[in-house]
Amino acid sequence: MGKRFPGVVAVSDVDLEVFAGEVHVFAGENGAGKSTLMKLIAQVEPPSSGRIELAGAPVSYQGPGAARGLGVSMVHQEFALAPDLSVAENLFIGDEPGGFGWISRGRERRAAAELLARVGLDVDPGRRVGLLSTAEQQRVELAKALAVRAKVLILDEPTATLTERETAELFAIVRELTAQGIAVLYISHRLDEIFEIGDRVTVMRDGAVVDTHPVSELDEARLVQLMVGRDVENLYPRTHSAPGEVRLRVSGLSRDDVVHDVSFDVRAGEIVGLAGLVGAGRTELARAVFGAELPDAGTVSLDGRRLRIRGPADAIAAGIGYLTESRKSDGLALQLGVDKNVTMARLPMRAGLIDLRAERRVAERERDSLRIRVPWVGRPVQTLSGGNQQKVVLARWLETGAEVLFFDEPGRGMDVGAKSEMFQQMDALAGQGKAIVFISSYLPELLNMCDRILVMRGGRITGEVPRAEFSEERVVALATGAKENHG
Ligand SMILES: Nc1ncnc2c1ncn2[C@@H]1O[C@H](COP(=O)(O)OP(=O)(O)OP(=O)(O)O)[C@@H](O)[C@H]1O
Ligand SMILES: [Mg+2]
Repeated sequence: MGKRFPGVVAVSDVDLEVFAGEVHVFAGENGAGKSTLMKLIAQVEPPSSGRIELAGAPVSYQGPGAARGLGVSMVHQEFALAPDLSVAENLFIGDEPGGFGWISRGRERRAAAELLARVGLDVDPGRRVGLLSTAEQQRVELAKALAVRAKVLILDEPTATLTERETAELFAIVRELTAQGIAVLYISHRLDEIFEIGDRVTVMRDGAVVDTHPVSELDEARLVQLMVGRDVENLYPRTHSAPGEVRLRVSGLSRDDVVHDVSFDVRAGEIVGLAGLVGAGRTELARAVFGAELPDAGTVSLDGRRLRIRGPADAIAAGIGYLTESRKSDGLALQLGVDKNVTMARLPMRAGLIDLRAERRVAERERDSLRIRVPWVGRPVQTLSGGNQQKVVLARWLETGAEVLFFDEPGRGMDVGAKSEMFQQMDALAGQGKAIVFISSYLPELLNMCDRILVMRGGRITGEVPRAEFSEERVVALATGAKENHG
């Protein structure tokens, strides 16, 4: 099949077979065409060419509702639930049980309860979806996909926002579904995950299928090579040098129940990791420093100067940047071009006017270094793939000229090649004497990139590990409060 957008061939001439009961993984660089191919299969987008057969019978394009009717549904990269409606209402939007246009509340609730049980979600079907956690909303999406007799279930980066435990639970559900003969098409950038859950993997590059292999026939290095078309020798390029003067100093910072009396320094040239379980208070700490949430107590100083931060604008003006973990709420202006989004925080001005040429130059430089896949930098951000949108947010913070940068789970949704570029830039920033705080839930990233790791638990810093003493066990023990095993 194929799909063209103005100026881009998103999917070109792909032939694909999917078997009942398999987990078929789709991997490849950001913008390779994975999500678009899935949208063709789920009939969210009409194909420009080609056709689909389901159990031997040709299927013509009739939209997502029709595809769902045939048992093909998709859980999108960004969910499409109605936050103000109840769980039950969300499950049956479009096809309420009861027929003849009448909604039978009792039947709807019973059917909802059954579906929720299938995805292991224990919430009241009458509850408003907006009140649920991300993981719970995803379960609702899954249940919605199963509400029709699913034959093919498409999951687009389902674990990007899940904790480790939630991921394990999701995998258990996926295994149950495949045991029932459902084919699961699964997009992921996480190599560990691909090897754990996948039966076969199809690698895409530039809109085309590179190859399909049984997962058991591949190893990580080979898979990476298929994905990016080259070897990524050093995913974590870090040049350590002796740190300089203290740049950022946080003292006695507290906010509500989530940040308790936190103090730490970051020196020039240092990358300091913040480790901890989800909910340990790392994002809350970053938000409090940045002024996104005002602290109740404590001070923040930069280069020995105490800052008065009453909101993010003050933090930015003082030279503190914060790349948040969620790009949606990070204020990407989706209708505006990549150029405008990249330079938004620091517009190139000339004689009081925005210097459009400089704007384009800056955007093109970032596009090239981060390999943002976009035909021209004026193109609206909403036409970019998920991972490329993430890179635009990153580029914006790299361009603010901030002296202190918080990176909160920056690699989410990025392919391995892009991640290695991003780490290179982090290393370069440190080399320029900036102070960097790096929040990540993926320990290998912290252990490879940081000079020190601060571990948080319950809103407090429970320990600090210098690079010479880095070990996964040590960090995990501090994060969970477990006794270290010195055996
Ligand atoms: N609505 C659209 N209009 C124009 N171009 C689009 C549109 N949707 C996708 N594209 C382009 O099609 C290409 C493939 O995008 P797609 O979202 O399928 O990538 P992906 O493999 O899912 O990437 P990621 O890993 O970043 O999610 C990209 O170049 C993207 O910019
Ligand atoms: Mg995608």
